[in-house]
Amino acid sequence: MIETFDSAHLDRAAEILAARHQRDFALERALGERFGVLEECRTLLEQAWEDGSRGAVAVREGAVIGYLLARAGEGQRGRHCWTLPQCAAYALGEGPVVLKRLYAHLSGQWVADGRLHHYTEPPAADLPLWLTLGFGHEQVHGIMDVSAKTPVEAPRGVRLADPADIGVLQPLLGLINEAHAAPPVFAFTDQPMWDILRSGHLELLNDPTVAYWVSEGHDSIDGFVVMRPVPDDESSILKPRGSVELFLASTAPHARGTGVGRRLTEWALADAAHRGFTVCVTGWRATNPLSSVFWPNRGFRPVAYRLHRILDPRLTGPEHVSGSDRGPALPSAVDALTPVQVASPLAGRPYDLRHATVSLWLNSGVPATAVAARAGHCVYVLLVDVLLRVYAKCIDGQEATVNQRTEAALGGSGA
Ligand SMILES: CC(C)(COP(=O)(O)OP(=O)(O)OC[C@H]1O[C@@H](n2cnc3c(N)ncnc32)[C@H](O)[C@@H]1OP(=O)(O)O)[C@@H](O)C(=O)NCCC(=O)NCCS
Repeated sequence: MIETFDSAHLDRAAEILAARHQRDFALERALGERFGVLEECRTLLEQAWEDGSRGAVAVREGAVIGYLLARAGEGQRGRHCWTLPQCAAYALGEGPVVLKRLYAHLSGQWVADGRLHHYTEPPAADLPLWLTLGFGHEQVHGIMDVSAKTPVEAPRGVRLADPADIGVLQPLLGLINEAHAAPPVFAFTDQPMWDILRSGHLELLNDPTVAYWVSEGHDSIDGFVVMRPVPDDESSILKPRGSVELFLASTAPHARGTGVGRRLTEWALADAAHRGFTVCVTGWRATNPLSSVFWPNRGFRPVAYRLHRILDPRLTGPEHVSGSDRGPALPSAVDALTPVQVASPLAGRPYDLRHATVSLWLNSGVPATAVAARAGHCVYVLLVDVLLRVYAKCIDGQEATVNQRTEAALGGSGA
């Protein structure tokens, strides 16, 4: 049974989440044990609840066996529903199918609300379930234990940058945005993201806790790697408290594949270990052909993913024939046919099915303008010409009447 999630479910949800984290910690020790306990998980879930995440629980024999929450939003990522890493979990003995049922239940409401972009951030162990629901990889969350890294000596040309370097860094600042905008990533970067590049880098260069490493090339800086301690209030189930984040990295295009990134990264990780960090986190676009190979090769292991599912925009448009929230449901193409017709050549091709559906709508008294819109015709000329002359021929049992009406409409004498 599926029920609406309310705050009374927070304790049980926290229990389920803590058990999930214990499983994930056993698979990846760098995640830390903090979220293996109920209280920490409850705080995480409470925050999500207060921030507007809503959803449902699955109940079996009176016991909650799973929950799924998502926060509605819109903006650069479209009209969406977003499930945070802590917002989807099932009692381990029940299996991930619980989430499938919850998603089946909730996603209909999301689509009815025009939310065609669905995001979820599952731990690595739950990835297969979400892939079966049509989600695709967007971002990979990686983690690495750096405690064994030992700094020897900074490679030649590698040094800490300071705010005075902003001018020479300028040509490199947009490289990540460019890599993300390019095929096959195709991530949309809006103007504000470009506008804040310089001030954002200056902030990092001015922050004494940040290690902004650069590599000096022949005549200019040809790469950077920025290490930023994860502030306590940003620590999460995927970013352990006290970890450092490999925050940004780029190599100038002319220097790529020559070892600049590798030297910078090895040094930056070893220096972080020297400064007392034991865990480093980072993230990369799964579709980025450079970073998606480079970071795993440096030792980062995927612990979670950001997945995205985008549904056909016609589902919320006038073409959608079965949306219960959009006026009386219209019959689907197959519903439009009798069993005999389905077995006949008429049903053999989708195009024929569309004709048959249109005919049924017309016969059922659906206004012709609505039929035209739903059938994909938006021009009035087509309405008269196509609907009343071509489709009329397909209407079983009414040919004579329709012909008479058509002729009358065209000024003939059939009435
Ligand atoms: C990802 C990125 C930072 C890697 O930097 P890079 O300087 O090209 O990386 P390197 O040259 O050190 O390494 C690339 C590969 O070439 C190899 N390589 C080639 N020549 C080399 C040399 N002379 N010495 C050492 N390694 C060499 C490296 O070993 C590495 O292969 P591996 O991953 O199989 O070990 C860079 O491609 C980049 O800036 N991409 C665009 C921006 C971007 O995507 N940033 C990351 C955002 S998450």
